[in-house]
Amino acid sequence: MARTTVHVCSQCGFQSAQWRGQCPGCEAWNTLVEERLRAAGAERRGQGARLRVLGAGNGSGAPGRLMPRPLREVGTAPIKRLSTGIGELDRVLGGGLVPGSLVLLGGSPGIGKSTLTNMVLGHLQQAGKRTLYVSGEESAEQVRLRAERLVLDPAGPARASHPALSVPVLAETDLESILETLASEAPHACVIDSVQTLRSAELSGAPGSVGQVREVAARIMELAKARGIAVILVGHVTKDGALAGPRVLEHLVDCVLQFEGERERPYRELRALKNRFGSTNEAGLFEMRQGGLVEVLDASARFVAEATRSPGSVVLAAMEGSRPLLVEVQALVAPSELEQPRRVVSGLDRNRLALVLAILARHGRVGTGAADVFVNVVGGVRVDEPGCDLAVALAVASASRGVPIQSAPRACFGELGLTGELRWVGHPERRLQEAAKHGLGGVIAPVDSGAPACEVATLRDALALALPERSGEAKIRSISARPGAPTLA
Ligand code: TYD
Ligand code: MG
Repeated sequence: MARTTVHVCSQCGFQSAQWRGQCPGCEAWNTLVEERLRAAGAERRGQGARLRVLGAGNGSGAPGRLMPRPLREVGTAPIKRLSTGIGELDRVLGGGLVPGSLVLLGGSPGIGKSTLTNMVLGHLQQAGKRTLYVSGEESAEQVRLRAERLVLDPAGPARASHPALSVPVLAETDLESILETLASEAPHACVIDSVQTLRSAELSGAPGSVGQVREVAARIMELAKARGIAVILVGHVTKDGALAGPRVLEHLVDCVLQFEGERERPYRELRALKNRFGSTNEAGLFEMRQGGLVEVLDASARFVAEATRSPGSVVLAAMEGSRPLLVEVQALVAPSELEQPRRVVSGLDRNRLALVLAILARHGRVGTGAADVFVNVVGGVRVDEPGCDLAVALAVASASRGVPIQSAPRACFGELGLTGELRWVGHPERRLQEAAKHGLGGVIAPVDSGAPACEVATLRDALALALPERSGEAKIRSISARPGAPTLA
């Protein structure tokens, strides 16, 4: 039988008939990826085009010569979007699903990807659109059982006629059969759950291997673009986001959504990492309940109500894309038994914490060199902006001194510079408004933030305002005062 696939090194392009652990070309390990051989005709056509470009053709308008057009002559049709019926998801997508586009929905197992996509198709079905749910992971019965849980919502439509139960489902992993079904059904929207379970018979690799995942996505995309089908590809991400995961697809698809949160906690956050049809700043917040995912519209109110206001707790006025969000940042500072003390973060960047601790030690006289430091953004939310620095610093300082933030309830925001200054961050007026709306006054903010804020220029000033030192308190200030421990204070 003629060979139909080839293994190509993803680093140097070396081609080999068999798979090898190490590339003979560049000696890199695990870089050979199986690819379908292009038909000989297509190859030759490609070469012809290249020759013409180089001037080797006859130049007399050879067949296949293309005419570039000025941009202004390129027609643009307004994008008609499909509303998913889930406001938070529509917002993250930039207004809804775009027909003919591919959306990759990544997230760790059990986070709720299948639940979300089930709900989307249910809503679309209800809106009179044709849908298709392809499940390579679960049997049709399992999909139905999940859909039944979504139907339990007493406020929703009656059970028998519930749109979630009229979504057509296909439990299949063979790519070629799926493509054929997709072409004949021509749904408005289709979910592939998950891209790692599908397998093309034309490649020998196992489902989920880089070659297979790429092939599956590329062939589905070809069909989706041709037929104007909006496709959501579900993909699992491992903790490090690597191994044959959907990372290899990021450049191919139009939109990459990341569904994150902690499995044990109810809050889930949906973020766009890439979006050809919208902004990547938006984030949607959901809560996993018995009847499925529920949009959280009053997140700030909940987080502020839950804030403990004990030592180590600070409310941060953060921005989630274009939307302000009040979250509680908690810190715990405890003497460490370890040579190299722990730095544990959740919902924050670990390097950011290291930076803030260094600035605190140098400019705030709060040393944590011999202490374990834990910092958590409560509720499983992730804050990915420089404006969180001040909140982290105040939470750690408050935890380290064992003193709550003074004249609470108050919030804060601002970025810390390496010389201990507090730097301006975007949208101060919206952050202040949000804080005021939830009854938080005296917001500590950088200079130029606007009217109701307590503007401060440096970390030192912020500490003086939030944690005024009383006599005698300095003694318990820093755990790094342990004998023999390195200290900067
Ligand atoms: P699932 O969507 O299957 O996760 P994924 O596809 O990302 O692997 O759902 C994960 C969890 O959600 C599962 O443990 C059960 C829970 N769940 C609810 O709490 N309520 C519900 O209504 C549904 C459908 C699921
Ligand atoms: Mg699933």
